[in-house]
Amino acid sequence: MTQESPLHLPAIAILGAGSMGRAILQGLLSPHVRVATGIRITNRRLEAADDFATEPRVSAWVTSTNGEANREAVRGAKVVIVAVKPADSEEIIAEVAADLDEDAVVVSVAAGKTLAQLQAAAGAARAVMRAMPNTPAQIRRGVTGMAVGEHVSAVQRELVESVFATVGSVVIVDEERLNALTSISGSGPAYVFYLIEQWEEAAREQGFTHAEAALLVRETVRGAAELVIASGEQPEELRRRVTSPNGTTERAIAVLAGANLAELLDTAMQAAMARAREIAAGE
Ligand SMILES: NC(=O)c1ccc[n+]([C@@H]2O[C@H](COP(=O)([O-])OP(=O)(O)OC[C@H]3O[C@@H](n4cnc5c(N)ncnc54)[C@H](OP(=O)(O)O)[C@@H]3O)[C@@H](O)[C@H]2O)c1
Repeated sequence: MTQESPLHLPAIAILGAGSMGRAILQGLLSPHVRVATGIRITNRRLEAADDFATEPRVSAWVTSTNGEANREAVRGAKVVIVAVKPADSEEIIAEVAADLDEDAVVVSVAAGKTLAQLQAAAGAARAVMRAMPNTPAQIRRGVTGMAVGEHVSAVQRELVESVFATVGSVVIVDEERLNALTSISGSGPAYVFYLIEQWEEAAREQGFTHAEAALLVRETVRGAAELVIASGEQPEELRRRVTSPNGTTERAIAVLAGANLAELLDTAMQAAMARAREIAAGE
């Protein structure tokens, strides 16, 4: 990774120290990032907060032992990231609403929860945003899609973009497209992991050991992903170069094309979008 220029951010609170909250925290702990007055993080149970006991840049609060934890954590914070489960997110926003700074922006990462729902929980005039990161954020290779609420200023939007840029790329979209984006990049790492699982199993069927199959498949996935990005070439062109007429790859691609992979992916994404609508409806 190239040397990054210093990034100075105002106080930030993360409510919920689960996998996504911690991934964002790791980005904010990058050497080039300075968060004024440190990063505040809360969690329901103690164990998670204990993990940060030796990190001077982080202040941790535990809600199971301190009923005021979330409210204390958000006071003075300019960005409040809500990283609890979707079913808990409106309740936690309503809990802290009265303690938010006037110019704070609330960013929910909850799948399916709409800007209108977040706005209703935070208060009609509050700045609220929806963000949909993905798990490669853990290694700062995430993609985060974002939708911006009507009371968010350009300065607040840029601030939130720079927070999520610490864990990867950021794309701003209209809210109507956020569920579709979630079905691509939010859920997408699981599609790739599933492909890797199935492909490794097929490799083991050919007599390779677990370790050999893992190396062959994972390094091929890594190499192909890095090649398509580094070369700037279209995937069709790169595929054409591997596919000699009447060669082995051509036969294999014919089988995959025959299974109509595009239609299968579309059906899978439609299922994810339907579930996002159910979550928004509280189902
Ligand atoms: N994981 C992903 O790939 C992903 C991707 C995009 C978006 N998201 C979104 O990110 C959110 C969190 O997902 P996750 O996978 O990180 O879930 P998770 O690992 O279960 O994290 C949620 C955390 O919130 C804590 N919590 C619950 N209620 C709390 C409260 N009132 N105050 C403070 N902390 C509280 C939980 O603590 P306890 O464990 O002690 O109960 C837990 O550590 C979800 O809304 C999800 O839709 C996740």
